[in-house]
Order: sequence, then structure tokens, then C-alpha cells
Amino acid sequence: MDIMSIDIFVLFFFAVVSIGVVKGTCPSTCSCVDDSSGSKINCSSKYLERIPPLTNNTYFLELGFNNITEIDIQFCKEMPQLHTIYINNNLITKVPVNTFVDCEQLYRIHLHHNEISVIEPFTFMDLPNLYALDLHYNNISTIKAFSFMDLPRLAYLNLFNNKIRSIVSYTFINTTNLGLLHLAHNHIKDIAVQICKAVPLLEGLDLSVNLIEYIQPTTFKNLTSLQVLHLYDNELSTIEPFTFINLPSLRDLHLTRNNIRHIREQAFGYLPSLSQLVLAGNPLNCDCSIFPLWSWLIERSSIATNAKCSNGTLITSLQSPALDICNPDNCHCFNGGKCVANGNELACDCIGQWTGEFCQESQCISHDCGFGNCYIEPVNGTAQCLCDDIYVNFCPVPIKDARTKTDKFGWLRNIL
Ligand SMILES: *[C@@H]1O[C@H](CO)[C@@H](O)[C@H](O)[C@H]1NC(C)=O
Ligand SMILES: *[C@@H]1O[C@H](CO)[C@@H](O)[C@H](O)[C@H]1NC(C)=O
Ligand SMILES: *[C@@H]1O[C@H](CO)[C@@H](O)[C@H](O)[C@H]1NC(C)=O
Ligand SMILES: *[C@@H]1O[C@H](CO)[C@@H](O)[C@H](O)[C@H]1NC(C)=O
Ligand SMILES: *[C@@H]1O[C@H](CO)[C@@H](O)[C@H](O)[C@H]1NC(C)=O
Ligand SMILES: *[C@@H]1O[C@H](CO)[C@@H](O)[C@H](O)[C@H]1NC(C)=O
Ligand SMILES: *[C@@H]1O[C@H](CO)[C@@H](O)[C@H](O)[C@H]1NC(C)=O
Ligand SMILES: *[C@@H]1O[C@H](CO)[C@@H](O)[C@H](O)[C@H]1NC(C)=O
Repeated sequence: MDIMSIDIFVLFFFAVVSIGVVKGTCPSTCSCVDDSSGSKINCSSKYLERIPPLTNNTYFLELGFNNITEIDIQFCKEMPQLHTIYINNNLITKVPVNTFVDCEQLYRIHLHHNEISVIEPFTFMDLPNLYALDLHYNNISTIKAFSFMDLPRLAYLNLFNNKIRSIVSYTFINTTNLGLLHLAHNHIKDIAVQICKAVPLLEGLDLSVNLIEYIQPTTFKNLTSLQVLHLYDNELSTIEPFTFINLPSLRDLHLTRNNIRHIREQAFGYLPSLSQLVLAGNPLNCDCSIFPLWSWLIERSSIATNAKCSNGTLITSLQSPALDICNPDNCHCFNGGKCVANGNELACDCIGQWTGEFCQESQCISHDCGFGNCYIEPVNGTAQCLCDDIYVNFCPVPIKDARTKTDKFGWLRNIL
């Protein structure tokens, strides 16, 4: 490079820098206010199709109601102090992975009312100060694993009114401060059971108006801060044991308008703060299978509930005598048998060798061993016959060897 070209280079360099400075001033259609924190810029409703070049001390940026179709990758490089961005009500269809790299100060992202359809892994990653992320009213159908990762301050995530089909494992990693997760009005069918472990401080979870048919037991277990859980307008038909357990802060549980017929024993457990159990609009089956829920509710009069049988009777108004038959103590099973409900009937579920209506008969009474000796197989509890070397489980002829102590008449022969 000779002296001349260095001069040209230097001139060119300064020209670019000064254009940069010019470019970085307030766009004519926007309103900009400088204060001690930097520049606050409002370019709302200006038919913008891109984010205009802005001053590098911009900390508040309002770009709502424009025609912006994409956000430049690493756009925070130009605005390292950006704290809040409103870019809602635009035409954004995708957010490339490195869009928010360098947005160290970013605290709020408002991307609602756009046309985003997929959230790729690592899109919202490593934003150490991000507190609120609003993506409601987009077209999101897929959220991949690792989408919301290493967001240690994220407290609010709004995904209301999208087309999300499932919440997969590892969607949230190190998102430990998430307090409010809004997932209502989506198409969710499946929720990975591990999800809630990653968001231990969740206070509010809205999953209403989705397509959930089944909740795996322990999905919500140990969400010790959870206060409100909305699951209304889904397609649940059975609440399995251990579905709502150890939720010490839960106040409101809304399960209205599902298709719940059965609430299994121990579906609810340790819910000391529960004050509202909203179950209206579910055709609960009021045969003996309702007994565990009924007795759980009767013992907890502080819980308001509108749970009704399919015939319209309030569960809490069911009378004790009608359900007494379902009380396990009323079965009188012998020999360790357990009373179980079988539709409206009760029956003894016997253990070991015992059979009969009340587990009063030994299987060996009815089991025919011929001339062999009946005993109860200790491993599987079934009647077996001890015979001889030729026959295994039934002895058609008397056992010859008188020395066999297990021979049916051996004791008699020994006396004679
Ligand atoms: C931005 O400007 C619009 C009018 O153009 C106004 O309605 C809106 O409230 C302003 N936003 C902020 C955050 O000041
Ligand atoms: C913004 O740009 C000016 C001049 O180009 C520079 O002096 C300043 O350090 C920059 N500020 C930030 C926060 O990058
Ligand atoms: C911006 O979007 C509006 C509404 O969609 C449309 O009427 C208008 O033509 C668009 N303007 C530009 C410059 O694309
Ligand atoms: C929304 O997503 C669906 C596919 O899930 C697609 O067919 C549709 O065109 C999208 N709509 C917009 C406005 O992007
Ligand atoms: C989660 O955060 C911890 C502590 O900051 C870190 O050691 C760990 O690697 C992070 N996990 C992932 C998967 O990023
Ligand atoms: C719930 O918490 C208990 C006690 O803190 C712990 O033993 C158990 O493993 C936890 N269960 C789940 C599913 O995290
Ligand atoms: C509804 O069913 C319950 C439980 O079987 C019964 O006790 C109650 O009398 C029924 N109510 C009506 C109105 O049929
Ligand atoms: C019980 O165990 C015995 C001996 O192992 C076996 O022969 C028999 O088939 C078993 N019965 C059942 C019902 O599993």
C-alpha cells in the first residue's frame, strides 16, 4: 500500500464512521428522548420494514405496529445497552438462532402478534438479564428442546394463543426463576413429565384450552411455589394417582369442562393451601370409585368445589349411608384379603392360598391332588400337588413309598 492509498483508506474509513454516526441518529419519523440511561426511541406505527439504524446508546425501543419481517442477526451489537424491545404486531415469521446473541442487557422482549412458526433450539439462550418474553398470538407449532436455556432471570413467558402441539423434555434448562408460564389456547397434547423439574419456582401455569388427554403422574410434583394451575377445557378423562401431590402453595385448581369420569385414589395429596377445586362440567362417575374423592373432600371442608356426578348430584352432597357400602372396612374379608370396589359391587381381593367370597377357604380345600399332597407354592401363592417321580401335579394312584412324609396318609400309616 503506498502513501496515496493509505490516505484514501483513511478518508474512506472516516467517511464510513461519520456516515455511521449520522445513521445512528434519530430516524426522522420516530420520536427519540435522551435521558441519563441513554436513548428511548419510539418508532411505533411507521410502516417500517426493517429495524432502522439507531444510536448505540438506545436502551428502550418501541417498534410495534410496523411491517417488519425480520430482525437482523446479532442486532444488539449495534445497541449493546438495549434493555427493552417492543416489536409486536409486525410480520416476523422467524427468529434466527443468533438474533439475540450479544443482548446482555436485554430485560424484556415483546414479540407478540407476529407470524413466528417455529422456535429453534438455542434461540433464546444466554440472556442473563432477560426477565419477560412475550410470544403470544404467533403461529408457533413447534418448540424444540433447548429453546429456553440458560435464562436465569426469566420470570415471565407468555405463549398464549399459538399452535403448540407438545412440550418436550429439555425445553427449559436452567430457567430456574420462571414464575409464570402461559400456554393456554394452544394444541398441546403431551407434556413431558420432566418439564416442571426445570422450573421449580413456577407460581402460575396456564394450560387451559388445549388438547391434553392424559397427565402422567408426578408431572406437577414438587412445584412448591405453584399457586394457580389451569387445566380447564382439555380432554382429560381420568386423573391418575399422584397427579396433584405435594403442591403446598396451590390455591386454585381449575379442571372445568374436561371429560373426567374417574378420579383415582390418591390423585390429590398434600394440598394444604387448596381453596378452590373447580371441577364443574365433568361427568364424574358416582359408583364406588368416587368414594376416595368423596371422603377426601368431606374431610377438607375448606376446599370449595362444584364437582358433580354425571346425574347432576353434587359430590359433597352424597350421603354417607349411600357410600358406606364402598367403605373398605365394610367388606369383612378374612385372611388378609382386601376389599375392592368393582362397579357398584364390593368384592374381596384375596392373597396367598385364600379364596372364596370372603377369603375364608384355602385353595387346598378345593384343589384336587388325587392321592397327592396339596401345598401352597410360596412364590406365586397357587395350590400345587406333591406327587412322586412319575406324576408331577396330580397323583392318580396312591403314593407307594410309605417313607414319604408328605404322603397324604403317611401320618396314619406311621401311627398304625
Ligand atoms: C409510541 O408512540 C405511539 C404513537 O406513535 C404511542 O401511542 C405510544 O404510546 C408510544 N409508546 C411509548 C412507549 O411511549
Ligand atoms: C457509541 O459510539 C461512540 C462513537 O462511535 C463511542 O464513543 C461509544 O463508546 C459507543 N457507546 C457504546 C455504548 O458502544
Ligand atoms: C404494511 O402493512 C399494511 C397492513 O398489512 C399494508 O396495508 C401496507 O401496505 C404495508 N405497507 C408496506 C409499505 O408494505
Ligand atoms: C401458520 O402455520 C400453518 C402451519 O402450522 C401454516 O399453514 C400457515 O400458513 C401459517 N400462517 C401464517 C400466517 O404464517
Ligand atoms: C446450568 O447452570 C449451572 C450453573 O450455572 C451450570 O453449571 C450448568 O452447566 C448449566 N446447565 C446447562 C445444561 O447449561
Ligand atoms: C419431590 O421432593 C421429594 C422431597 O423433597 C423428593 O424426595 C422427590 O424425589 C421429589 N420428586 C420429584 C418427582 O421430583
Ligand atoms: C345420582 O347418583 C348418586 C350416586 O349414585 C345417587 O346417590 C343420587 O341419588 C343420584 N341422583 C339423582 C338425582 O338421580
Ligand atoms: C406357580 O409356581 C409353580 C412352581 O414354580 C409353577 O409350576 C406354576 O405353574 C405356577 N403357577 C402360576 C399360576 O404361575
